[in-house]
Amino acid sequence: MKNLFKVIFVLYGLVLVQSACSQAPEKSVANTEQSNKDSLAACATETIMDPNNTKPMALMMRQMVINADSMKQQILRNETLDSLKYPFIKFYLVEPTDPNVLEPNFFEKSRLHQAAYLELFKHPKEQVKYYNLMIASCVSCHKDYCSGPLKRINKLPING
Ligand code: HEC
Repeated sequence: MKNLFKVIFVLYGLVLVQSACSQAPEKSVANTEQSNKDSLAACATETIMDPNNTKPMALMMRQMVINADSMKQQILRNETLDSLKYPFIKFYLVEPTDPNVLEPNFFEKSRLHQAAYLELFKHPKEQVKYYNLMIASCVSCHKDYCSGPLKRINKLPING
């Protein structure tokens, strides 16, 4: 148990330090002349963000990585995931760093991710497959909106 906390602590530290998706508010002002896609791509830059200015969506995403990694470790130990331990986090209802992301395609990708997430707990005998599908739905949205954390997300699949 002590070790688990250590791991979670270290992971959280990594997430904080890398702060991959962060985008300074001044930057989005500077980007207003560019296309919507360009301003979203600002998410790709790896800057260390003012911790007092971290938006709720970014905070939830950090928890989602921690949870996904914890699920991965459990699956690798052949443990059955408990849906009560991993409630779905409704990140799409809270404020993002860049409000431009809140467009129909984002909500559609959120819906697909939520479906893939809930599906995982319905298949205790095929957890690897459904876990990987769930992570694929993280990747699918991040390709469109926030490529910075992809490097980290791409380490989450099992056997991949
Ligand atoms: C529907 C789109 C979407 C899905 C699905 C999604 N993300 Fe994100 N993610 C985002 C957006 C947008 C941000 C930027 C949030 C912000 O800065 O407020 C983000 C930010 C992040 C960050 C960076 C947080 C930081 O430190 O600033 C990580 C890491 C992350 N997501 C991981 C994940 C993981 C893991 C999953 C799947 C379990 C996932 N995301 C699913 C859109 C998505």
